[in-house]
Amino acid sequence: MLARSPDVPGAPVLLVYGHYDVQPPDPLDEWRTPPFSPDVRDGYIYARGATDDKGQFFTYIKAIEAVLGAGQKLPLNLIILAEGEEEIGSPSLEKFLMHHRDELRANAVAISDGSQFAHGIPAITYGLRGLSYLQVDIRGPSFDLHSGSFGGIIYNPAQVLVDILQKLKNPDGTVALPGFYDDALAPENWEREEMASLSVDIESLKDYLGVSELTGEPGYSFTERRTARPTLDINGLWGGFAGEGAKTIIPAKAGAKVSMRLVPNQVPEKIDRLFQQFVTSNCPHGVSAKITNLHGADPVLVPRTTPAMLAAEKAIETGFGKKPVFIREGGSIPVVNLIKKHLGQENILLLGWGSPDDGAHSPNERFHIKDFYRGIRSAAALFHEMAQ
Ligand code: BES
Ligand code: MN
Ligand code: MN
Repeated sequence: MLARSPDVPGAPVLLVYGHYDVQPPDPLDEWRTPPFSPDVRDGYIYARGATDDKGQFFTYIKAIEAVLGAGQKLPLNLIILAEGEEEIGSPSLEKFLMHHRDELRANAVAISDGSQFAHGIPAITYGLRGLSYLQVDIRGPSFDLHSGSFGGIIYNPAQVLVDILQKLKNPDGTVALPGFYDDALAPENWEREEMASLSVDIESLKDYLGVSELTGEPGYSFTERRTARPTLDINGLWGGFAGEGAKTIIPAKAGAKVSMRLVPNQVPEKIDRLFQQFVTSNCPHGVSAKITNLHGADPVLVPRTTPAMLAAEKAIETGFGKKPVFIREGGSIPVVNLIKKHLGQENILLLGWGSPDDGAHSPNERFHIKDFYRGIRSAAALFHEMAQ
C-alpha cells in the first residue's frame, strides 16, 4: 500500500516504510492473552505485531495525527509504503519498487522495525545481517521400514541428515561449510572499539532468555557475535517416529530448515550454492538430498554521516531525551537492499523504537507504551528536522 501527503512544494520527501504482516503466533497456549486481542498491562501493549512491526510503524501515523491535531501542516512530503509480505521475504516488493521508482523518489527513507540498543538507550542502526534460508529434504526407502528386518543394510535418512548437519559446524561452534567465511567483511578496529564501548547487561539477558550460559565464535565479543559475524542455525528438524513410546522403524525421510545470517560482502546466492554443493556431495548414494531455497536477503551497511542521519540523531534526542548510539543489528530487512538497488537510495534511516526484550517472533510479543510515545515524538521531530 502506498500513500502520499498533500504536496508541499520545495520541501524534502521522506519515504516511510513499515510492514503490517506478522509471524505466526504459535505456540498459542504460551500467550497470556490472545495474540490478536491487544492487551495493555504493566506499561506494555501485548499482541502479535506490537513491536514487529505494526506498533513501531504506527508511530509515524500518530506523529502525522499529532502535527495535524496541533493545527499545523506537515512541513515535508511524506510517502508511506506499507508492506504485507516482509516476514515471508518480500517476494513481490522488488517488482513493485522497480515499477514505482519515480513515485518513490525521496531524500531519505525511514524504517522503524528494530530496537534500541537497550532499555532507554536509543540507537540508529547502520548495519543489518543478510540471510540465506534453506530446507533440506533427505529421502531414502519408499516407506518406513522395520528396523529389525532392515537395520544394518540400508542408509537411514535421519542419520544421514544429522551427519550432514553435524559436518556444517566445527566443535567450537564456527561454521565448517567450506568457503563460508571467504567474503565476510571483518569489522574494522574503530568499529570493534565502538562496539566494545557499549556495555551489555549479560546477566539480565541470560535471565530473560532463561539460560545459564551464552556461547559464540572465539575471538569476538558478544556484540560482534550478535551483529557483525555470520552464523548458521538449525531452525527445525524432523524425521521418523517422534510420538509417545517406541516404534522400531527406519524412516523413509527426514528434513531440516537451516538459516545462515550473513555479513557485508557475503552474497546469499553464493552461500546457497556452497550449501547445496556441500550437502549433495556429503549425501551417500542410495539416499537423495533435495535443497529448497526459502528466503534470501542481502546484508547491508548504510552511511552514517549524511545530513539525513544528522536529522535523525537530533530527532531521537528530542523524542528520547538522549543522543542515540550507532549499532548494527543481527536481523534482516529485505527491503533495505532493494531500496538501495532499485531506488539508488543510500539515505536509509533504521530507527528502532522497540526494546531487545520485546519478544518479536515469540509468544507474548509486546511494545513498551513509553517507547511508543518516544517513537511518536521522534517521528514528529524527524519531520521537522528533515524540513530544516
Ligand atoms: N524486524 C525484523 C528484522 C529485525 C530483527 C531487525 C531484529 C532488527 C533487529 C523483520 O521483521 C524480520 O523478522 N526479518 C526476518 C527476515 C525475513 C526475510 C523473514 C528475519 O530477520 O528473520
Ligand atoms: Mn519487522
Ligand atoms: Mn519480523
